[in-house]
Amino acid sequence: MTNDSERGPEVYGSWANAWDQGTRAGASEVPSPVLASHNMSSTKRLPSKGAIRSCFEESTCQKWRDDKGEPIEAHGAGLMKDPVGGRWYWYGESRKTQNLTSHGVNCYSSDSLAGPWRREGSVAFASGKEIQSGSADPYPQVLRQNMIRLKGAHPRGPYVVERPKVLFNAKTKKYVMWFHLDSHDYKYRRVGVATADLPQGPFTFVHAIQPDGIPSLDMSLWVDVDGQAYFVRSCDNLYTGISRLTDDYLDSTGLLSKGPKMEGYALFRLPNGTLYMLSSHQTGWNPNPLMLYRANGPDLSDPQWQDLGNPTRHVESFNTQPTYVVPYTTKKNETYFMYMADNWIHAGPGRLIDASYVWLPIKFDGAHVFIDKLYSWDMEDPWKNAWNHDERPVFG
Ligand code: DGJ
Repeated sequence: MTNDSERGPEVYGSWANAWDQGTRAGASEVPSPVLASHNMSSTKRLPSKGAIRSCFEESTCQKWRDDKGEPIEAHGAGLMKDPVGGRWYWYGESRKTQNLTSHGVNCYSSDSLAGPWRREGSVAFASGKEIQSGSADPYPQVLRQNMIRLKGAHPRGPYVVERPKVLFNAKTKKYVMWFHLDSHDYKYRRVGVATADLPQGPFTFVHAIQPDGIPSLDMSLWVDVDGQAYFVRSCDNLYTGISRLTDDYLDSTGLLSKGPKMEGYALFRLPNGTLYMLSSHQTGWNPNPLMLYRANGPDLSDPQWQDLGNPTRHVESFNTQPTYVVPYTTKKNETYFMYMADNWIHAGPGRLIDASYVWLPIKFDGAHVFIDKLYSWDMEDPWKNAWNHDERPVFG
């Protein structure tokens, strides 16, 4: 554990402060009449198959809804295509209310990345070594943070639970979830690890750790084509650290390499072998210019990150912060990569509580990489019939 003088600059302050920054004075959890009426027409409209309609700004944003027409609440997400059942699983932070005790990890599943998404609401959280099961939950979640009770000299909850990522471990046949676990003042700086026999849980808490003994904030997981899993995180908000995971994915094996200070990580490797990392600067919930790095080195022990700039060419990256990049193979057997991001505070009048999603295809054009502002696009044919920023979005 570090002492205060060793800690990096406080970007967030506390959850309460962070939440205040992410909300407008006076905004309540009840959607304003403006939002309610804006959403009224789409209240029970289910997402049409194939079309991705990102939420860029309050004036055009429509809530993303599940197969029952309920808002999807899965922020700071990780996506997993279940290698066993072939279904897609979307894990993310629950609704960003001001009350941390209600926070947790939600899980949705779908046959197609384009939805419709089914809320896996029936899963409960199993009690584990350091964790107790919560009381009966009328709206169950894969992991609810008020079920976390850490033994020993730890700060008391409610904790902050952010950016859950799940991998399937072929050796142990377990689904392993890692998430940023923190105290309300963001000083605990740990990772929570939980495992399950099924992708939708129930997950059993394994431990809260500071991987490789380094205070850890924003984090992600990534599996390379050779099956090796990696953990990337913001080390004390001072630099980026990359480590390999152990064979069972329950821990890390030592710091492999360091990179510049950033957060909001998403790693991906093209079929031609080139490795990239998307990330953001550290500005709390506020959007900032995306950063795209290419690894010029031989491997992640010596990545030699080259900064390729901001692929959105927009200073606030269309109001987004990265959370994941997922490869998608179309029915015509073409693979491309999709940028998954959070629009934390520009999706609705309630700001953070109205947080929504932006998913966009990543375009490679020679040495140049672009992420264009497409209001509507088709997963099976990402650049055909896409509505770009020069046209008025039309919602069907
Ligand atoms: C930015 C991080 O990327 C988010 O996950 C969250 O921790 C916020 N900061 C809190 O301000």
